[in-house]
Amino acid sequence: MPGASRFATLREILHYVPQFRGRTFVIALHGQIVDSAGLVNLLRDIALLHNLNIRPILLADFSQDLRRLAGRLGDQPDQLRLPGPITPEQMELLVAASGLTLHRLVAGLQNLDVPCVYVPAIVAHPVGILRGVDWGLAGKVDRIDVALLEPLVREQLVPIVLPIGTDGDGQTYCVPFAHAAAALAAAVQAVKLLYVTPLDGLIVQGQLIRQLPLPEAERLHLSGQLQDEVATLLEQACEACRRGVDRVHIINGLREQGLLAEVFSSEGVGTLIHRDEYAAIRPATPKDLDLIYRLLLPAMEREEVLPRSVEELRRSIDRFLVYDVDGNVAGCVALYTYPDSKQAEIACLAVDPAHENQGIGRKLVERAMAVAAEQGAQEVFVLSTQTYNYFRHKLGFVDADPAVLPAERRRLLEESARNSRVLRRPLVDSPAGQVSVGSDRAGA
Ligand SMILES: CC(C)(COP(=O)(O)OP(=O)(O)OC[C@H]1O[C@@H](n2cnc3c(N)ncnc32)[C@H](O)[C@@H]1OP(=O)(O)O)[C@@H](O)C(=O)NCCC(=O)NCCS
Repeated sequence: MPGASRFATLREILHYVPQFRGRTFVIALHGQIVDSAGLVNLLRDIALLHNLNIRPILLADFSQDLRRLAGRLGDQPDQLRLPGPITPEQMELLVAASGLTLHRLVAGLQNLDVPCVYVPAIVAHPVGILRGVDWGLAGKVDRIDVALLEPLVREQLVPIVLPIGTDGDGQTYCVPFAHAAAALAAAVQAVKLLYVTPLDGLIVQGQLIRQLPLPEAERLHLSGQLQDEVATLLEQACEACRRGVDRVHIINGLREQGLLAEVFSSEGVGTLIHRDEYAAIRPATPKDLDLIYRLLLPAMEREEVLPRSVEELRRSIDRFLVYDVDGNVAGCVALYTYPDSKQAEIACLAVDPAHENQGIGRKLVERAMAVAAEQGAQEVFVLSTQTYNYFRHKLGFVDADPAVLPAERRRLLEESARNSRVLRRPLVDSPAGQVSVGSDRAGA
């Protein structure tokens, strides 16, 4: 059917809408994005979110307008290095540049009939004196005035916040963009913080990191492998997660529809930093049945996993764990226990091709092994026709003789004539819940 894939895509998109309706997204627009030709499309995407009753709050960096303005006035843009000390004269320039940025956003959104309003929501304090240098009007976020934002968001206005804050005495300070975004997202309890940047995401050793649970993101930050602006983005993404934002995305706003692709597809396009990795792995419910079947079907057809009907899967749904990405099943595994012999079988492992090579298969097996250990198993085994090298090389399994299988399982293997290889891995040395296998992959 020619339109089938289009409908599948539409189904995937629509699946997200109820989940996000009425929820707040903070969209932090990097200066180069605000200044790019792609801004028009980006604002169109933001208008779409708004029309779907998702509540965007924009935070707009004005560094690019600042450069242009400073250049035009003959000032040396490089003299004003942010973050860095700011004089009152430079502050005037910053405020003027922020006005240009604000105007561009307001005009663009009004053109799309999206009601928007500037909100001075940042309360700031001076950075003060660092290593003997007075940073003047450079500020840090003290708090976000949520009471100012809330009624506007409720009235379906799109607030635009600038990384400029005032203190109780009416003094104005410039605050760092990435910090302001994290503080804003945490304060309004946004479900997502999207850093829309000129970067594809976090790139480590030439590889784009697709997903990063908070503990791994913190480790990466401490490793010092990232520098300057990217390191700051990662640091603030972690900070936002620690303060309750579930998901922080770093995406490339120069890519057409990057924002929509990140929000409305489970695989996304940039880097996702999220709070709790194991929240992603959960026991399957009957509602997951169709998605599990769809996931396993190609692997069954390729004889990678034993064929099972939907009915058979329904009967054993309690044995399944799924890897949940925004309500989509990105991977599954089943665990069959044999209490008499203190063994457990790992079966039906499959990962959606769109999510392959992100460590999901490994995590599912690790979790299944932890569950097996909790249930008293002393070893796990797997029967594999084609994926034995994965279990050997990536998960630390070793080849075994079919004689090690529980008698009933050995009989089924013989009857199936699949001639599967048997691999096993002991659990006895691993404390329940802490089974660790294979090598740790950055980005998994
Ligand atoms: C096998 C499968 C579960 C792996 O899932 P995954 O989430 O992509 O795997 P991970 O991210 O944990 O590991 C990826 C690594 O395993 C390697 N790998 C994947 N499939 C492999 C295979 N069949 N043989 C050897 N290595 C394999 C990848 O090359 C990658 O290597 P790298 O870390 O050096 O880059 C997935 O490819 C799948 O669903 N396959 C079809 C179903 C299947 O065969 N199930 C097993 C039934 S026993």
